[in-house]
Amino acid sequence: MKITRKIILFMLFISQLTIKQQVLAQTAQFGEMTKLDQFGAPSVGDYKPTEAEKQRVAWFRDAKFGMFMHWGLYSQMAGYWKGNKILGGEWALKLSKLPIEEYRALANDFNPVKFNADEWVSLMKAAGMKYMVITSKHHDGFSMFGSKVTKYNIVDATPFKRDPIKELKEACDRQGIKFGLYYSHAQDWNEPDGYGNTWSWPGYKRDMNKYLDEKAIPQIRELCENYHPAILWFDTAGEITQERAEQIAAMARSIVPDILINSRIKLGKPIGLPVTDFNGSGDNEPFREVQAAPWELCGTLNRSWAYKKWDTDFRPVNELLFNLVDAVSKNGNYLLNVGPTAEGEILEPYSSRLLEIGKWLKNNGEAIYGCDRTPFGNEFGEYKVIDGKKKYVEAPANWRCTTKPGIVYVHVINWPKDGVVHLPALKAKIKRGYLLTNPKAKVKIKQTAEGITLLLPKAANEDFATVVKLMLRN
Ligand code: GLC
Repeated sequence: MKITRKIILFMLFISQLTIKQQVLAQTAQFGEMTKLDQFGAPSVGDYKPTEAEKQRVAWFRDAKFGMFMHWGLYSQMAGYWKGNKILGGEWALKLSKLPIEEYRALANDFNPVKFNADEWVSLMKAAGMKYMVITSKHHDGFSMFGSKVTKYNIVDATPFKRDPIKELKEACDRQGIKFGLYYSHAQDWNEPDGYGNTWSWPGYKRDMNKYLDEKAIPQIRELCENYHPAILWFDTAGEITQERAEQIAAMARSIVPDILINSRIKLGKPIGLPVTDFNGSGDNEPFREVQAAPWELCGTLNRSWAYKKWDTDFRPVNELLFNLVDAVSKNGNYLLNVGPTAEGEILEPYSSRLLEIGKWLKNNGEAIYGCDRTPFGNEFGEYKVIDGKKKYVEAPANWRCTTKPGIVYVHVINWPKDGVVHLPALKAKIKRGYLLTNPKAKVKIKQTAEGITLLLPKAANEDFATVVKLMLRN
């Protein structure tokens, strides 16, 4: 391995560590949802939104499942640079320190003639998704929307000349999908004053305030005024101070009062409410345990965010569905990423998987949308002392639970050969149980102070998780 590659990998590793620490700090700040007390659920910290904040985030908490989209000039590279494979997708410009003028020239050929906003949004709907978040500007600095702040945008700098962000916003409104925008507010490799480009302007002394005042903040204002997004999704907040984060949030809310803002608006000590509405776990890394505050797992469908022709390592549908069920059981959402091509297509390996997820959700959505977290918690694992050290040991992921008032849904992931599932004890009494997709298939229940035993029918009802619906006595 070349030395530069080693350095890059080491730096990525360090940045992941920082993200993890940040995420842990953020969770500690949020608090208890007392709604699940009826189940005797364990306390998970302190989260006390005001009534208005609760209402603002209510749609997001019910929605559970959204589409993340990484689409930009980097999609045109499709994982290649001058005929050679290149690492990084949307990070390729920085990872390979490409000459900025050559990268900018990608715009001359960016022409997604196959892009059809309504088709994309219909696919989201068929997948059972309720919201989307698309890259309006990623770290490369290219705006995928019509902007008056810079000519380096899709309307002014490409032969396409259309504004896909506007078209998507309109299609989302038509089809009832909430519309969210990703915006890289600190990292911008196209600007000498932005964060992150250390190779194009050697010796230049950056001025982050200039970048924020002249590009990021005016563009965030444009996004709010022109597209009224339901979510502003920030990322990699290098050098964003508390004051700057508060200023951005206040400006956004003065235009779109109910806008939701994610926790990546700022690094370090988290802001939390009233500025940020939901936390993010790591990329492709869910929180280990139940969270009190709303949160979101973002993850890739293959191994890349942006489209790369050679990344054919697609995750199986049962892994993707498990991510969703697992997140919901921990009080979270799942934002699943798709990388469209530069032509504007979502290719078959993506769409076929999304449609299968949609099929499962069509039958089992009752146990996902609008649900609360598990009434248990120890199904995820527990701390054990191993060789004198306290370690978190994950439990085998055989089942997950979601809840609604008076109902516990047990998502049986690995159907047991003997038909027996053991659950921890529950304060509430279970009246009866049956398979969600076949109410005639009854489940026998033995409930004691020590725990619950479910005797399931012989065969599972679904290819992936079969849901057992347990009705509680009032
Ligand atoms: C990372 C990367 C970025 C990607 C994001 C998605 O932070 O910097 O490329 O957009 O993860 O969560």
